[in-house]
Amino acid sequence: MSDVVTLERHGAIAVVRVNNPPVNALGIAVREGLQNSFNAAEADPAVKAIVLVCEGSTFMAGADIKEFGKPPKSPGLPEVVNGIEAGTKPSVAVIHGTALGGGLEVAVSCHYRIALKSAKVGLPEVKLGLLPGAGGTQRLPRLVGVAKALDMIVSGDPISASEALELGVVDALIEGDLTAAGIAYAEQLLAEGKGARRTGERTDKLDGVDNAAAVAAKRAEVSKKTPGLFSPQRCVSAVEAAFTLPLAEGLKRERELFGECLVSPQRAALVHAFFSERQASKIDDLPKDTPVREINRAGVIGGGTMGVGIAICFANAGIPVKILEISSEARDKALERARDTYGMSVKRGSLTEDALEKRMALISGITDYADLNDVDVVVEAVFEDMGVKQKVFEALDANCKPGAILASNTSSLDLNAIAAFTKRPEDVVGLHFFSPANVMRLLEVVRGAKTSFEVLATAMAIGKKLKKVSVPVGVCDGFVGNRMVFQYGRESEFLLEEGGTPDQIDGVLRKFGLAMGPFAMRDLSGLDIGLAIRTRQRQTLPAEFKLPTILDKMAEAGMLGQKTGKGFYLYEKGSRAPLTNPELPAILEAASKQQGIERRQLTDEYIIERTIYALINEGAKILEEGIAQRSSDIDVIYLNGYGFPAHQGGPMFYADSIGLDRVYARICEFHQQHGAWWKPAPLLEKLAKEGRKFADL
Ligand code: 3HC
Ligand code: NAI
Repeated sequence: MSDVVTLERHGAIAVVRVNNPPVNALGIAVREGLQNSFNAAEADPAVKAIVLVCEGSTFMAGADIKEFGKPPKSPGLPEVVNGIEAGTKPSVAVIHGTALGGGLEVAVSCHYRIALKSAKVGLPEVKLGLLPGAGGTQRLPRLVGVAKALDMIVSGDPISASEALELGVVDALIEGDLTAAGIAYAEQLLAEGKGARRTGERTDKLDGVDNAAAVAAKRAEVSKKTPGLFSPQRCVSAVEAAFTLPLAEGLKRERELFGECLVSPQRAALVHAFFSERQASKIDDLPKDTPVREINRAGVIGGGTMGVGIAICFANAGIPVKILEISSEARDKALERARDTYGMSVKRGSLTEDALEKRMALISGITDYADLNDVDVVVEAVFEDMGVKQKVFEALDANCKPGAILASNTSSLDLNAIAAFTKRPEDVVGLHFFSPANVMRLLEVVRGAKTSFEVLATAMAIGKKLKKVSVPVGVCDGFVGNRMVFQYGRESEFLLEEGGTPDQIDGVLRKFGLAMGPFAMRDLSGLDIGLAIRTRQRQTLPAEFKLPTILDKMAEAGMLGQKTGKGFYLYEKGSRAPLTNPELPAILEAASKQQGIERRQLTDEYIIERTIYALINEGAKILEEGIAQRSSDIDVIYLNGYGFPAHQGGPMFYADSIGLDRVYARICEFHQQHGAWWKPAPLLEKLAKEGRKFADL
């Protein structure tokens, strides 16, 4: 057969076994192996039934994503699955781990399916800008009905084995050895005289239901929720073909729509996002054999917004955590805040009361540093003030056991200076969480000049344990994410002085795909935060770096965002819905007048260039300084921490897709028109002139 697919005989049962680590992706060798094995079993008169089983941690997790964009190799997956389904001997797929995408398509082309209770099945192709392209859109509706198939295919979310059993995607749940269970199930089928049962021939779940209404409803939902996405509408059209066309034509329609998605720029961007996330955890200069320290107990200093969120992350991962506060009142308040946060999850139905109590039992409050003598890691999240941080780190140094990791959640202070407050700077690292820390996936792992490899490796492992997307970054003001977002925030305020409005600019950037526009974001975090940075910059930056004055004017008028009910938008009491702030136009006009600017109408394209190109230029500087390891790491930070749209791939991928020569030329124009901030990054200039991309580095 092949190295990755083998065929064994157990009496009358043929066992086809796939072994293609790490996730049994359906690359060409697996496709060939499957086709040959099923054909051989079909041709062997001694074989009466066929069992398909996978080695390793999972059933097939889908097509091999690395093959997308390359010339297709035969046999394609549709040909393989159609062949399996056409077989005359009953076939049984034995599912463990995750049967995803092409993996589930193979499973539903087998005549029966059994699964471990822990297994999950799904068609996540839409998350990669695709649709199921090997019969999934035609066979799944035949198993679960059109409405449920639409939900699964358009969301891309997997379902549990128990739900799959209820819906009829799998026929039985099993325990123990996969091969033995598969053989036993096949023997039982034979004993009961059951033969081939082809999903594609079924119509019972399609008949007598208003499928057209389900399609219309999903289409409307997709138009409203994801108007800018290419593949979801095509997912709906493909499923529609399952009940409007005979199987063979439905499969053909699915293939056409799959082909459209495959060549779309959104597919390339989403696949880039997928691989970049996995790549980000790899640190180029970290020796492979670096030991990782055990983390069984944690501490958090400061039980404010961030500290409580961070403590919740540890508790959610089953790690006991102590929150240290300045007083017993503050300590109790922190614990109350943690309970309230969990309480909201209980209210939403995403957590049970019992789980709340179990997690709260892992969180304790303390006021004495001596109680931190047994923790393996401590994360400081006190006020953003070097004097306060100094006292905290000196106390940690004096009280924590040797080998404990001393981490800071600082968002802008110099981590090397913080490390120097201790006698063990090699144990100091930055763990920069994003707010709300228990929700946001991103974690910037800040490498200080003296952070040891062991501590760095352990910090990355902690991120994984806390289910974060961890990206290593170097020390600089704002690290990667905030350093870049500052450029973007400033430019959006300059655009207000030039003639834009918050509604317009936020609207354009939302249409581009951002989860939130810059002004809604400012209102959410509070204008005082941005203002504090501005004030600091006015004191330190050379005069040629001009700064917008809108924030100062708004602060003078008492408009600090949601917390004052008024900011770039107006908020009614108890509501977060942004309404037009009637006092703002006068402030904008005054600001424009003060700068001698005649307000004008800005185009969408101009707004995107001024804001997103500001990110790109700073990203290039960050890359050149070695603050980020690779351009795709910057993309991961933006996709997971700043609501940048995954279908645009991240700012650096977006730049590559436009062409760096074009981006560079425009940045040069902005440099001429708007001065020092826009000085082109030397790396960008070099790559643009050489006709290269960030991804080539
Ligand atoms: N193709 C190629 N490589 C894949 C892959 C795939 N489908 N899925 C995962 N990998 C690789 C990862 O890149 C990673 O490689 P690395 O170790 O070199 O970085 C390795 O497998 C392990 O992956 P994870 O780190 O993600 O491991 P986890 O255990 O956390 O997660 C998983 C496993 C749930 C399977 C997750 O990897 C996943 O969701 N994979 C993608 C599944 C998917 O989208 N399938 C649909 C593909 S499209 C398709 O099938 C089209 C068809 O309809 C025609
Ligand atoms: P916060 O003001 O909500 O909380 C700070 C807490 O620290 C308060 O509860 C205070 O009582 C406590 N504290 C102050 N001094 C202390 C000391 N010496 N010992 C023990 N506890 C002490 O502040 P927030 O927003 O939680 O920020 C904390 C840190 O996290 C800062 O360094 C900030 O820059 C950083 N950060 C903040 C983010 C945000 O969005 N709020 C995002 C990422 C990082």
